[in-house]
Amino acid sequence: MTKPHDHGFSTRAIHVGQEPEPTTGAVVVPIFQTSTFAQPAVGEHLGYEYARTGNPTRTALEQCLASLEGTDAAVCFASGLAAEDAVFRLLSPGDHVVMADDVYGGTWRQIDQVHTRWGIEVTAVDLSDLDAVRAAMGPRTRLLWAETPSNPLLKILDLASLADLAHEHGARLVADNTFATPYLQQPTAAGADVVVHSTTKYLGGHSDVVGGAVCTDADTAQQLAFLQNAVGAVPGPFDAWLTLRGVKTLGVRMDRHCDNAAAVARWLADHPQVTRVHYPGLPDHPGHALAATQMRAFGGMCSFQVAGGVDAAKRVAEHTELFFLAESLGGVESLIEHPGIMTHASVAGTALEVPDDLLRLSVGIEAVDDLIADLERALGTKRE
Ligand SMILES: Cc1ncc(COP(=O)(O)O)c(C=O)c1O
Repeated sequence: MTKPHDHGFSTRAIHVGQEPEPTTGAVVVPIFQTSTFAQPAVGEHLGYEYARTGNPTRTALEQCLASLEGTDAAVCFASGLAAEDAVFRLLSPGDHVVMADDVYGGTWRQIDQVHTRWGIEVTAVDLSDLDAVRAAMGPRTRLLWAETPSNPLLKILDLASLADLAHEHGARLVADNTFATPYLQQPTAAGADVVVHSTTKYLGGHSDVVGGAVCTDADTAQQLAFLQNAVGAVPGPFDAWLTLRGVKTLGVRMDRHCDNAAAVARWLADHPQVTRVHYPGLPDHPGHALAATQMRAFGGMCSFQVAGGVDAAKRVAEHTELFFLAESLGGVESLIEHPGIMTHASVAGTALEVPDDLLRLSVGIEAVDDLIADLERALGTKRE
């Protein structure tokens, strides 16, 4: 019999960690809504003792995510930022991180305002410039932190080259795979050592749960599981269950997200009010060729700049109807946001600042003609 791990992606998404429940045969992993587990004898237990340390619903999600990322193990957290926090806690004072200069604003805020306070050092560089990366690496550099496609400018980074460079310097490559998901790209296949996720996004997929995960080798996962228990930023069983339910349909959702985003990006590129479209699937995107080799398809995120500056951008964002004006991404419904004022406000005034005429779309899986009609109406809205 083939083992679940030998199957194709969508089979693994539905089956790994998700055997029918042995006492009843329930085909869906139950929500083990319990804080503790009765033990048959002092010092003996059935695999679970206390729900911060471990919970079977969370275990199912962790096994499934590890299989999808092709890693030994996954460790889940209460949010993407809690997952990232655990990775940074693997470091010691004086250790140095080289980070992409356009990472998610919350990632930058965490390292810059939280972890530097206990002695972690960070340098932000354009990770598409390998000479600049090499120059930024030092003897205490332990992590090279990449996000590809990046948020919100959808830059594509060369994971294989970055992994080589990190390893030459005795550092590890961390890839934030939130935008691509393991369906479109498996960073460890390119040499990355650690993959982080905000499972809030495509993995959960329905904008109804916040969570995070780190997928990595067995030793590192053991250290992270220690932190998961010792620090305690764990997802509740219902959150793990919702995320696992979302993961089952990741492949079919991503196919539709990618098709819709490609159609929207092509349409925006021809619109007279749009000055620039950032979508790696467009042939003129600087990372297009690399994305074509590194990713299965180009993703569901698309950013664009509008003529008329910040006021025009705000007007468009406030006049779509199907695209809800909201932070976050990766759900079945389409979202629009103004990164400069919303998700990336914490990097205003720094090197990571984003253009103020930029809008970011999380293109959902609705009928694409409706989405294009919605954008057409909003782009045509005149100043009142
Ligand atoms: C690329 C990326 N990484 C990490 C995070 C943080 O995840 P969470 O909001 O689940 O803490 C986000 C959130 O927007 C993100 O977009």
